[in-house]
Amino acid sequence: MSSTSLKKSEIWSDMKARGAAGGPNIANLFSDKDRLSKMSLTVGKIYADFSKHAVDDGTFKILMDLAKACDLDGWRTRFLSGERINVSENRAVLHPALRGLGGDAGVQEAVADMRVRMAEFADQIREQGRFENIVHIGIGGSDLGPRLVADGLKATVDAQLNLVFAENVDGASINDALDGLDPTKTMVVVVSKSFGTQETKMNADSARAWLKAAGCDPADHVIAVSANREGAVEFGIAPDNIFDFWDWVGGRYSVWSAVGLSLQIAYGPDAFDEFLGGAALMDAHFAQADFNKNMPVLMALIGVWNRNGLGYDSLAVIPYSRRLRKFSAFLQQLEMESNGKAIGRDGKPAGQTCPIIWGDEGTNGQHAFFQWLHQGSSIAPVDFVAVATDHEGRPNHHKALLANCIAQSEALMVGKTEAEVREELGDHPKADELAPQKTFFGNRPSTTLLLDDLSPEALGSLIALYEHKVFVQGVIWGVNSFDQWGVQLGKVLATQVLSDLNGGNGKHDPSTMALIGRLKT
Ligand code: F6P
Repeated sequence: MSSTSLKKSEIWSDMKARGAAGGPNIANLFSDKDRLSKMSLTVGKIYADFSKHAVDDGTFKILMDLAKACDLDGWRTRFLSGERINVSENRAVLHPALRGLGGDAGVQEAVADMRVRMAEFADQIREQGRFENIVHIGIGGSDLGPRLVADGLKATVDAQLNLVFAENVDGASINDALDGLDPTKTMVVVVSKSFGTQETKMNADSARAWLKAAGCDPADHVIAVSANREGAVEFGIAPDNIFDFWDWVGGRYSVWSAVGLSLQIAYGPDAFDEFLGGAALMDAHFAQADFNKNMPVLMALIGVWNRNGLGYDSLAVIPYSRRLRKFSAFLQQLEMESNGKAIGRDGKPAGQTCPIIWGDEGTNGQHAFFQWLHQGSSIAPVDFVAVATDHEGRPNHHKALLANCIAQSEALMVGKTEAEVREELGDHPKADELAPQKTFFGNRPSTTLLLDDLSPEALGSLIALYEHKVFVQGVIWGVNSFDQWGVQLGKVLATQVLSDLNGGNGKHDPSTMALIGRLKT
């Protein structure tokens, strides 16, 4: 065992032992008058408050030691310099280069050329005025990022074209997207890194048929974005209508590339540039700031403490912003496809890695699952995301929204003791029965991220913050955050099952055979 790994195992054991002891009472940690300044920071338009976590000075030091023992500094350098850290696919991981950080001269030139081509194309479409609608077809990373950002940008930027999305292979997805659109005024953007994805190819075929049925030539309406140019050409997309990206951009990290072309067309190249600028700001901070004042690093390490120290197996992400309502779905892919891995880079069990990511917009969640968050038998840390500026012209609504967000994090932390409840109940005849029901345990951790506004810049910084958090956690857990072999088996079997539903005779287990038998035509 090397001295580094020995050190890591010792630090890890210390952390586990602290966690097993239960961790401190969060509210009591504020007896340290410096707590808030130690545990909060601002980067660009994001203020992050990590003070409502059960992290005391001793745990904080352990987490910093852990980052050092895992050579986070070295990994960060290898990542940003374009080393092939995605070893199982033998690829570099260079999404920050799309925002101007890292990559060699060749990469930087390719990115610059593509940015010019995208902006010119977007301007041209916007100036022509020929199209009123864009149907963006893609799934997973070719959908979730653009969809989240399309919603987010609505807060501050007027869309010039109506942008709709089709992702699921369920015919309802493409039907809903095309519903009410005039094909002659509709552009279709097919986005697939691999150009081998069943859902995307079927939806693109259906959109093409819809265009043809209306007498439109698909070559004048359909463009593609892909890292597999040959695949797109084979699918029938004219080479001039293809926008490339590269194998060093992971699908779930690709919104910054030509995958964001629909956004650029609908919202304009300036907004897209600002979005990239916001990410670049977070990149610079991540690359330069000391770990103890580095927002993505702190977020990641506190997540490790919650997962591996305190044993919490999920993380709720609750955006108090209708325009960010897709954020938890976006993060499900970003975090769970990246770090949802039980086997480490070294081929050995990695222990407990990515927690389940879940959530919904506030205040809606308060009327659904917050009962579980406050009084349930498991604890889920929460990431609250709120936006300081009212973009809806309804200041009274906005203040109420923010009040709810702040109150929930306070309630989770401070709770309400049985003694307090009893005092409130006074001589209520059912005080004994009611008191335990109305008690809140408290000491439930949360992070609050407060964005100045929902500008493209703030949105860019927010997404980049989580991207880097995921990278850091992957380093600590020792997994490759940039492959996704776990999605393959189901895809392969689906092809076999589809063939069996169409009359094939594949062999399956009895349960699967029975299901196929019931549906076979
Ligand atoms: O099935 C998972 C996945 O491979 C994701 O990683 C990816 O974002 C998505 O499918 C879509 O893939 P593609 O962009 O190649 O169509």
